[in-house]
Amino acid sequence: MASLGQIIFCSMIILIVLFSALIILILSVSLTGSGFGGSTSSVVSSNKNPIANLGEDQLLSCYVNAGQNSIINQVSVTWEKKGLTGLVYKYADGADDLTDQNPQFKARTQVFPGSLVGGNGSLLLRAVRSSDEGEYTCSISSSEGKGTVNIQLRTAAFSAPTLKFSSGALVAEARSWFPKPNITWSDYDGHVLQGSTNFTQNSAGIFTVVSRLQSVNMSDTYTYRIENNLVTALSRATITGSEVSANTYFIYAANAASSLLSLTYLGIMTSVLCIYYLT
Ligand SMILES: *[C@@H]1O[C@H](CO)[C@@H](O)[C@H](O)[C@H]1NC(C)=O
Repeated sequence: MASLGQIIFCSMIILIVLFSALIILILSVSLTGSGFGGSTSSVVSSNKNPIANLGEDQLLSCYVNAGQNSIINQVSVTWEKKGLTGLVYKYADGADDLTDQNPQFKARTQVFPGSLVGGNGSLLLRAVRSSDEGEYTCSISSSEGKGTVNIQLRTAAFSAPTLKFSSGALVAEARSWFPKPNITWSDYDGHVLQGSTNFTQNSAGIFTVVSRLQSVNMSDTYTYRIENNLVTALSRATITGSEVSANTYFIYAANAASSLLSLTYLGIMTSVLCIYYLT
């Protein structure tokens, strides 16, 4: 028989889970809500949580998701950023309107006129800086109605490492990482191997990461993982003679909404275990 304390504890957890589920539901509805009046189309983004690579260009996706064969015209687009005075970008009456553009975005924004007339208001942000991080709102008004979508932009620095074989060691060099990443070497079977890593930081705070894995075997395959809280680069390298053949792919961190989702999942699992324990 469970004690009163245990029952209260479990009831509290179940209540917390129910409330968080409710909050998530409300949040997801308000985040995807596009404020359309009776229209079948909406304004959407193919990536609401992009992670931009500092110094590179980043596309912020925003377009009217209309039914097939629908003709969209009279498109106007406004891009705003939370907490910013003025606008990021505006297009109305068939032309740019940059009178209210904030100087931070001067000469760094571009839309695609060919796509725009069809309701695609995606914005290319040039040479991304860390101050560009934040929440953007894209509003499109067209013959199909009006709608908005919010995009949360995060910035990081990341680059694929180059892998070389040098005096019996496998050496991986990656030029730009931020925030400071963690390094893991492992063998083909996933056993972690001990490498030695050197970080150097430039004046902008960006890290160059050089890591050596000693006494590697010819024709073996090794995995090199370089990751921070936003981006993971996973490289698989095979040593053939004095050559190293390697390929790298990037994994981007999940957004806040899906972390909330996994928290809810955790909460539900705890409740289930709690109930199981009580009965
Ligand atoms: C919108 O335009 C951008 C830039 O041309 C393009 O990369 C993107 O694929 C377009 N999106 C859609 C849904 O057509």
